[in-house]
Amino acid sequence: MKLPPGPKTPSWLLNLQFEADPFGYMDGISKRYGDIVTVMLNSTPVVYVSNPLGIKEIFTNTKEIAARGELNQDFALMTGNQGVLQLNGLVHKNRRKLLMQGFHGARMQACGRRICELTEKIMSQQVVGKPFVAYPTIEDITLRVGVEVVLGLDEGELYNKIKHLFASIIKYPQSPLFQLATKLPFGQRDLGRWSPRGYILHLRRELFQLLYTEVQERRKQTGSSRSDILSDLIFAHDETGEPLSDEEVRDLLLSPIFAAQDASGTALAWSLYWIHRLPAVRSRLLEELDSLGENPDPMSIVALPYLSAVCNEALRIYPTQLFAFPRLVESTVEVMGYELSPGTVLIGNIYSTHQREDLYPQPKEFNPKRFLEKQFSPYEFFPFGGGSRVCIGGTFALFKMKLVLATILSRYQLELVSKRAERPKFGGLICYPASGVKMVMRGRRQHQGQSQPLVSGLV
Ligand code: HEM
Repeated sequence: MKLPPGPKTPSWLLNLQFEADPFGYMDGISKRYGDIVTVMLNSTPVVYVSNPLGIKEIFTNTKEIAARGELNQDFALMTGNQGVLQLNGLVHKNRRKLLMQGFHGARMQACGRRICELTEKIMSQQVVGKPFVAYPTIEDITLRVGVEVVLGLDEGELYNKIKHLFASIIKYPQSPLFQLATKLPFGQRDLGRWSPRGYILHLRRELFQLLYTEVQERRKQTGSSRSDILSDLIFAHDETGEPLSDEEVRDLLLSPIFAAQDASGTALAWSLYWIHRLPAVRSRLLEELDSLGENPDPMSIVALPYLSAVCNEALRIYPTQLFAFPRLVESTVEVMGYELSPGTVLIGNIYSTHQREDLYPQPKEFNPKRFLEKQFSPYEFFPFGGGSRVCIGGTFALFKMKLVLATILSRYQLELVSKRAERPKFGGLICYPASGVKMVMRGRRQHQGQSQPLVSGLV
């Protein structure tokens, strides 16, 4: 069977090219080979798809194409072996349902105000005139929100320890030392706490132990009125009607916190970058926010059309996760005219689909208006993936993005420190802004009163 075309370069060299310039590399591949491309990984064909018809096939054909948890084993370091990402079949379905129930409307509404308060608290610590890096500042907000919603903790020794461990496990692999070490022959080995790999494993053991102990402690607190996802999971039942084990509960807690911190933090840092790079976008957003009056209700912020369009456009142009998780062909299937044999890996290429000229004219331009003018299908715009593994936190992530952005923009005047374009940097799964987006606080912003009705026009 003939595979779709693709580069013949060895995979280690492709990796280096990709790491040096992720978007440039992917644009080049799409231009040369089109929207279905094969990259050989040893002897396994990995087929990247960036055509809505192919994406639809990947996400909906569950008979021949499976979302196997085994393909995501690399992430078990962060998520534990029984995290949603590693599960399959009925168990996967059940655990997804349990976690998604945790993000119900009433809980989200209750945490809306809290997200605005936390944003205000952290942003008010910035010194006027002193540059700061937006990404870690924002990540501090998203991590705190994640720990509160998932574990119900917002202060105290345990909270501080857990927060520190989550932050370190994300940050350390991004450090130049770690990245260099992992390219050396023994860099991936655990050579004890003082080696790069050993240190990550040490942090992970500490985090897992703390969470495990917390799960056990919570089980003893009968009659507690706590409202958080951990409390829900302790009383939840699996697909056979049995309670979840302590390890299962612990592993289920990890990916929502990591994702809430890292994926949401990155999406927000990119959004701040675009909004402050393009004054017309910022003015129109402020006009829309001011139209709600002072101290608006979080639910009315979340419903704002232009703010929603800005968040979508930020997730389109530089999707936080460039690819959906891999899928496996289990019986011969035709995708975009190619017959693919069992064992072929299929990857929904989010970035390259979002860069298609036919869907998004002038795709390199940040233009939120395209989301006001057209409704895109879930196979044309899919920053949260799709099908049986679609992100469980997509709605929550957008909710949080809008509230954090609204609070920062309406209350503070920020500027980018540099006029140079921010470079993307790929780390593990996510595409970060390489400098972290350097900004400077110019002062507080006064609410501009009830403004004129919004004029949709220029931006
Ligand atoms: C802007 C923020 C976020 C982005 C861009 C994002 C993106 C994604 C993507 C692309 C996938 C893969 C879906 C697929 O393979 O089809 C995914 C899966 C997942 N996301 Fe998110 N995510 C974000 C925030 C969150 C948040 C806040 C949570 C938790 C509260 C979360 C939890 C998860 C989980 C558990 C999965 C795996 C689902 C499964 O294996 O069934 N994500 N996300």
